[in-house]
Amino acid sequence: HLEAEAPAGGFSFDGPFGRWDIAQLQRGYQVYKEACAACHSLEYVAFRNLADLGYSDAQIKAEAETYTVPRYDEETAEVVREPGLPTDQFPPVPYAGLGNPPDLSLMTKARHDGTNYVYALLTGYEDMSTFEKDGVVLSEAYPDFEIGNGLYFNPYFYGLGIAMPAPLRDGQVTYADGTEATVDQMSQDIAAFLTWTAEPTMVQRKQTGWWVLAFTLFATILAWFAKKQIWADIK
Ligand code: HEM
Repeated sequence: HLEAEAPAGGFSFDGPFGRWDIAQLQRGYQVYKEACAACHSLEYVAFRNLADLGYSDAQIKAEAETYTVPRYDEETAEVVREPGLPTDQFPPVPYAGLGNPPDLSLMTKARHDGTNYVYALLTGYEDMSTFEKDGVVLSEAYPDFEIGNGLYFNPYFYGLGIAMPAPLRDGQVTYADGTEATVDQMSQDIAAFLTWTAEPTMVQRKQTGWWVLAFTLFATILAWFAKKQIWADIK
C-alpha cells in the first residue's frame, strides 16, 4: 500500500510551534457527526472534552443530551438508556453492515503517520481498473489482482480492499462557518479532529517543551559559572 501523503500546506499543528486551528476542529467534529458517526464510535472522548473546541458549558450540556447513553441502574440491576451528561463519553455505535468499523478516538495514533493516513485514506479511493502509480497501471501490471467481494479499492489501506465505502462526497456537509465542503477540505478537517481526539494535549506538550529547553539552557549556564567559581583557585 502507499505511504500516506500530507495535504498541500500541511496542518496547523505540525512542527514544534504547531497550534490547533479551533475552527478546523469544529468543522472536523461536524464531519464526524454527519459522515462518520453512523458507523464509527468515539468512545474515549467525553462530551465535556469539547470545551477544548471552544464550546460553552451550556452548548456541551445540550450536545450531550442529543445522545442516549447506556447506564447501569443499581436498583433494578438493568441497563437503561438515558440522555447523555457532559461527563459521559460518546456511546458505542451499533452497526450491522459489512466489516467492523473501529472506534476512531485513537485512530491517528494506531496507524503509522496517522493524521496524514486518515487524510490520505479518505481522499484516496480510486477506480482500480485505471489506478496508476509511477507510470505503472495496476490492472496491466497485475492482471490477476483482485480484491475481495464487497470491498472497495483504496491504495492507502494495507489490504488495498477496504470494507468501508468512500464516506465523503463534495458538499456532503454544510459548514456552519461557510467553508466550502470539498472532499479534500472535509478530509483535512476530520483528520485534524481525530488528531485532537487521540492527543488533546499535543499543543500543550509542544509548548511545554520550549520551557523545558529554556530551563535546561538556563541551568547549563548556571552550572558553567558555578564550575568556574568553584575551580577558580586551582590551576
Ligand atoms: C474503517 C475513518 C465513515 C465503515 C475505517 C478506518 C478509518 C475510518 C480511519 C480504519 C482503516 C484502517 O484500519 O486502517 C472513517 C471516517 C469516516 C468514516 C473519518 C467519516 C468521514 C464510515 C462510514 C461507514 C464506515 C459512514 C459505514 C457505512 C467502516 C468499516 C471499516 C472502517 C466497515 C473497517 C474497514 C476494514 O477493516 O476493511 N474508517 N470512516 N466508515 N470504516 Fe470508516
